[in-house]
This record gives sequence, structure tokens and C-alpha cells, in this order.
Amino acid sequence: MPEARTVLVVGDADAPRDTTDGVLTERGFRAAEHVDTLAAAATRLRSESFDLVILPIGGAGPKEMSLIEHDIRPSSPFIIGTAAGATQELILGALRAGIPEFVPAPLNPEELDVAVRRLVRRMEPALRTRGKIIAVYSAKGGLGTTTVAVNVATAIAREHTDERVALVDFVVVGGDVRVVLDLKPSYDIGDLVMKVDRIDGELLSSLMTPGPSGMLVLPSSDRPEVQDLIESNAASAILSQLRAHFNYVVLDLEHYLGERTIGALDTADRIVLVTQLSVPALRSTQRTLNLFNRLGYAPAKVAVVVNRANAESPLTIGDAETVLGRAINGKLPNDFTACADATTKGIPVLEHEPNSSLANSYRHLAANLVGTPEAESAAANGTSNGAGDTDSRKRRLYRLGRS
Ligand SMILES: Nc1ncnc2c1ncn2[C@@H]1O[C@H](COP(=O)(O)OP(=O)(O)OP(=O)(O)O)[C@@H](O)[C@H]1O
Ligand SMILES: [Mg+2]
Repeated sequence: MPEARTVLVVGDADAPRDTTDGVLTERGFRAAEHVDTLAAAATRLRSESFDLVILPIGGAGPKEMSLIEHDIRPSSPFIIGTAAGATQELILGALRAGIPEFVPAPLNPEELDVAVRRLVRRMEPALRTRGKIIAVYSAKGGLGTTTVAVNVATAIAREHTDERVALVDFVVVGGDVRVVLDLKPSYDIGDLVMKVDRIDGELLSSLMTPGPSGMLVLPSSDRPEVQDLIESNAASAILSQLRAHFNYVVLDLEHYLGERTIGALDTADRIVLVTQLSVPALRSTQRTLNLFNRLGYAPAKVAVVVNRANAESPLTIGDAETVLGRAINGKLPNDFTACADATTKGIPVLEHEPNSSLANSYRHLAANLVGTPEAESAAANGTSNGAGDTDSRKRRLYRLGRS
């Protein structure tokens, strides 16, 4: 029997207590310990560790949020905040203070259970699995690759609460994921590559940063030397460890098609190729599809997604299909306000505007990417991933460069 998990409750954040005790026992926690105030919790956490902290955020001002962010969260990253009648502003403040889950008070067993399960999933030592890698790519910058990666990962994490979801910034230096999600990571992909020979599930999870909806994020580094450290062998070692320890791995790829990026595209089970209804975007997508074809990717491996599809443009989806010679697999509406506000607040559109048409489209796309028998059978037949050894990749790259 694994040891029961421990939980610390501040004040009456667990009311009604019967409900909370029932959910926690069911999920493998022992009886909760209680303290009266946030300050008392911070003191207690200095000398003792708890697997979960449940605390009240109703009425929490900047002072309390700062106490949570600086004195509670570093010793206990698994926190549930509760409050009655919380405003969106309060919930966002809590997210920014690093509280990964919010449940309205008085607690209801279903809502509490979803939050507890998401956190428990992150606490569990990762079991070995063969996860699915979804790579998000566009040859041109600024078309929405990062936004799609962040929101697709969030949609998968929200839909598959019992599975482990990773979002990885494969723009290994200076990538935007940490900015878009306002993360303050203790570690990044640079720390991981230093330990690449020793990675196991636990080390991997401990070097990742809790992100929205229970996912774990591997942010890019801000040290330029990491660029060279993550050459194609190290990149492929990182990807195979991620695949072994997560059910779903979403990659935000850089636009430059170097060996590292081609290696990631090879390894991926699905590629989301992001484009827009403009001549330069479609031209570059056409070239990328040609290249994918020459790399031997099955068409079903690639999902072409038109971002900002209803933005004013003389071009239509039909034009895009004609130019690209294939069907468009997804359309994401233009929603400047939702995207800009979500980025300013450091959260995904899916959490900021969950009922928007853009959020719906991300969910739809994520559902398509997660379950596609066509692509799976292609991958099983070895027609889609075909990573090949490094030398043959170099030769292929060389040929592509010359053609
Ligand atoms: N569907 C959308 N509607 C409106 N704005 C969007 C949409 N998707 C993305 N954007 C905005 O477009 C801009 C570029 O998006 P993003 O950073 O995701 O693109 P990118 O391809 O990753 O760019 P980069 O070249 O910096 O890597 C951002 O300001 C983002 O908020
Ligand atoms: Mg980007």
C-alpha cells in the first residue's frame, strides 16, 4: 500500500468538511490537518511538507496573494483555492499567484473531485507509457503556432483529466510559452538536457512547471548556449523520455527547419501545420507540405489548420484548398480580444473565454488530434513517423537543400 497523502487546510476552506473528507479519502489522502491562517500555514510548511494545501482566497488582497506566491507555493505547489461568489478577477489573481486549481465554496463533491484528480495526476510518479506527440508548426512566424500549441494542450488536459499532458517549448531558447502562460519556472529545457542520461519519470516531472488545467510545462531556456546543447540526439532523447512518461505531449516548434525541428516532426504522431488566408502564409504552407511529402509523411499525419479564418481576406478556405491541393482540417476564428486579453493575463484562451467560439474550435481540433484511427494505422505501419537514423536524415536534408 502506498503511503497516504497528506493535506493541510487553512481556516474553513474545506467547508462542508464531510464532503471534502469523503473526496479526499477516496483519492488516497489521510485526515486533513488544519491551521487557522495563511501565515500559520506558511510557518508550518517551512518545517513540514504536505501533498496538498486547501486555502481560502475569498477576500485575499495583494498581501495574502503575495504570501501564497512566495511562502506557500514554493513548498507546496499543489494548492486548491476556494471562495464563495468569487469574481473572475479574484480567480485570475489566484492563478497568477500560482494556485493551480479553484473550486467555488461551499465545496461540491464533483467539482472538488475534478480538481483533486488533476492534482493527484501530477503528483503521481509517471508510469511508463507510449504517449502521443503532437507537434505544432508553421514555416512562417506570427501565424499563431504558440497560441495553438498552448490551447490544444489545455483542451486535451481539460478533456482527459486522468491522463498526463505535457506542453514543451521546443523553441529551445527564448520561446514564448513561458511568456504566454506567465510562468516563473525554476527549471527549463536547458536543465533537462544537462541530465539527459539520467532522466526518469520523477526527474522529468520535477523539472517541469505546473501549468493550466493540470498539465506540466517544459519551458525554453534563456541561456543562449542551450541552443547548441540540444542537438538532434539530445532532442530525440528528451522526446522519447517525454513520450514514455506522458500520455500526450504537445510541442511548440520553432519556424526554422533545422535538424532538431525535423527530428521532432519525424517523431511526432500528428503535425498541426498552422496557416492563414494570406498569399505569403499559403505559399509557405505549400512549400512545407511539399517538403513533408518528400520526407515521407503520410498526408493523414498532417492536419492543416487555418488560423484567424474569418479575418478579412479576399481568400477563402476553398482557395486555400485549391492552392494546397488538399483538404483543410481545421478552422480557428479570428478573435483578437480573447487572444490579447488571455495573453495579458497569462492564461490560455480556453480558460479565459471557455465559451467563446475560438475556445470551441480549439476543443474540436484537440479532439480530432487525439483520436484519429487513420493516422494511427499509418504510424503502426511505419509509414508516418519513419524517423530514420541521423545520417540518413542529414542526407535527406542535403538533398532537400539542393532541390
Ligand atoms: N485566432 C486568433 N485570433 C486573433 N489573434 C490571434 C489568433 N491566434 C493567434 N493570435 C495572435 O497572433 C499573434 C501571433 O501568435 P503566436 O505568437 O501564437 O504566433 P507564432 O506563430 O507562435 O509566432 P512567433 O513567430 O512569435 O513564434 C499573437 O499576438 C496572438 O495573440
Ligand atoms: Mg511562437
